[in-house]
Parts: sequence; C-alpha cells; structure tokens
Amino acid sequence: MPRLTGVKKINIAVFLSGTGSNFKNLIKYSLKKNSKFKIRLAVSNKSNSKGLDYADKYKIDKKIINYLNIKDSEINILNVLKKNKIDVICLAGFMKILTSNFIKRFKGKIINIHPSLLPKYKGLNTHQRVIDNNEMFSGCTVHYVNSKLDSGKIILQKKVKVLKTDTSDKLAKRVLKQEHLLYLKALEKVLTNL
Ligand code: GAR
Repeated sequence: MPRLTGVKKINIAVFLSGTGSNFKNLIKYSLKKNSKFKIRLAVSNKSNSKGLDYADKYKIDKKIINYLNIKDSEINILNVLKKNKIDVICLAGFMKILTSNFIKRFKGKIINIHPSLLPKYKGLNTHQRVIDNNEMFSGCTVHYVNSKLDSGKIILQKKVKVLKTDTSDKLAKRVLKQEHLLYLKALEKVLTNL
C-alpha cells in the first residue's frame, strides 16, 4: 500500500457566499488520510455566510471581502491567496463573478459547481426554471471557470430525475446531495491532471 506520509498536499481555497454545505463536505473529505488536498482558506463576500462557521469549527483561515470595488477586492483576494500558497480555487456557492484578469492568474485552476445540467440553466433560480419548463431531468455540473458565466469546460455532470411532486426546494435538496458526491469526484480528477 503506497504511503502518502510526507507527500505535499495541494492547497485549496474555497469561495462561498451562503450555507456552505459543499464547503463542509470538501473539508470533511480533505481530513481523510489519503486525501490529496488541504483546505487552507475560505473566502466569502458575506460576513454572515453560515458556511463560515465551518471555517471556525475546523480552524481554517477565512477572509471576508466586502466587494464594494471589484478591482480592489480581487487584489485583496490575490494577496491572501499568495500568502496562503493556494494552488487551486473551488467555488462553492460563491455568488460573485470573477473578472477575466483574476481568472488569468489562476488559469485552469478555478472550478465551480452549478446546480443544473450545463449548458442548460446558467445563472440563478435554476430549479424553479427547470420545473416551470417541465424538464424530466435536472442535475449538477462541475466545470472550469472562464470569463463567461457558468460556461467553462465541463469536468463532470450528474443527472437527477425531476419528480411530478417536486417544488424548487425539494429538487434543490436532491440535487445538493449529488453535488457533494460530484464535487469530490471532479476535484480528484482535476488534481490528478494538475
Ligand atoms: C449549491 O447548490 C451550488 O451549486 C449553488 O449554490 C449552492 C450552494 O450551496 N451555486 C450556484 O448556483 C452558482 N452558480 P452550499 O452553500 O450549501 O454549498
């Protein structure tokens, strides 16, 4: 059995704005003995993101950015990423759009999870739009981030059946369960190809 002791782990920053269930799931996985990565930093544009509680609980550094000015905010973020020697950025419910300048600095090293089968249903309110359009399937996608919203190269997707009884909340819950599994698989794939 190969031993990973002493092997340098990949440093990850997670960007979030809300509940942070994907963040929590990534942290828990990262703590496993054989995980290739360590979550070094949480970045949020909201000081009251519930997800930041997990940063406190698991003693992960956090940076809150007020986003009053995008350029200054991104300079600020880049500095803290450098300080923490971050290799890869995982967006997990981060509701701000990164500029192409920022993305260039981490080319091919920023990934995002979106709760739809991209390229369908980019943007917000995905679940309600899926239900309104009587789709048979929805799902989730992990993709590389480029300068267009929810448009970078797809890494992995998972389909979820839409039920006749679904409300936006019910569908969101089932999709979120799959997001947690998909994000880990996709991240593993990305890190293997680094
Ligand atoms: C997730 O469903 C994620 O896919 C979505 O926000 C939720 C965050 O949940 N992201 C987007 O809509 C980005 N376009 P979480 O805070 O519990 O991880």
